[in-house]
Amino acid sequence: MDLGLKGARALVTGGSRGIGAAICRALAGEGAAIATCARGEDGLNAVLDGYRALGVEAHGEAFDVREPEALEGWVARSAEKLGGIDIVVSNVSTRIDPASADWWPDTFETDLMQHVRLKTLAVPHLERGNDAAMVFIASIASVMTTLPPHEEAYGAMKAGLVNLVGQWAVMLAPKAIRVNAISPGPVDFEGGWWDQVKKAQPEMYQRAAGLAALGRLGAPEEIADAAAFLASPKSSFTTGANLRIDGGLVKTPNF
Ligand SMILES: NC(=O)c1ccc[n+]([C@@H]2O[C@H](COP(=O)([O-])OP(=O)(O)OC[C@H]3O[C@@H](n4cnc5c(N)ncnc54)[C@H](OP(=O)(O)O)[C@@H]3O)[C@@H](O)[C@H]2O)c1
Repeated sequence: MDLGLKGARALVTGGSRGIGAAICRALAGEGAAIATCARGEDGLNAVLDGYRALGVEAHGEAFDVREPEALEGWVARSAEKLGGIDIVVSNVSTRIDPASADWWPDTFETDLMQHVRLKTLAVPHLERGNDAAMVFIASIASVMTTLPPHEEAYGAMKAGLVNLVGQWAVMLAPKAIRVNAISPGPVDFEGGWWDQVKKAQPEMYQRAAGLAALGRLGAPEEIADAAAFLASPKSSFTTGANLRIDGGLVKTPNF
């Protein structure tokens, strides 16, 4: 299916690996120009040529999305380089040490506030864009009550993010900006968190796989294709949705 993204201009946070990198590849493969970011410059340099090889413009900057001024500068520079913004995919999460005294405030910054700031910074550009859409990457942790203790703060913030997506969908509809969320279940890729679990605690990995009705973890591309669809005009009547992609892990109908 041609998603109608040729010539679209997309910002994707955290595009150097994992789900963010797969989203960049999916959008670039559909002909969208990409501006992405990550903290590590080497990681970005390793992927940017791959996006360009798909025939599109691709830019990357190394900074921490939790620094408001750095985020603001990146959005402005990216809009200038791409000639505008039509799509924003807010994908970053950062693993926070639960033993840290600042676990809760750090998780608040990482899994909630930086998304709020990105939305605020992007809206003036999206208003002038074509078929404008935002996609926020949440997690099924938002609806689970049996999370491991180290994910307590993460689950609460992801739940807040899903709520905000619903509110923003209504607030931004008059500006013709659609806003949706994706809530992935466990996703495995080389160098990712579940890859480390697979090597260090294979029983825990197998338990996680067994929780899903499909009996396995997901692949980044299985999240990215849905993100590209939600970012595209092919989903023009979809806003305020939270698409659960977890292989049937959460055992409730998704009303
Ligand atoms: N993987 C899963 O099982 C899973 C399940 C449910 C939901 N999710 C959600 O899916 C999203 C992506 O997850 P993932 O597993 O692909 O993540 P990941 O492996 O941690 O990759 C995150 C990407 O974001 C960048 N990044 C991390 N912290 C950053 C920061 N503070 N500032 C700028 N860039 C930063 C990383 O590069 P640097 O490290 O170089 O900064 C990397 O490019 C997250 O929102 C996560 O909560 C993932």
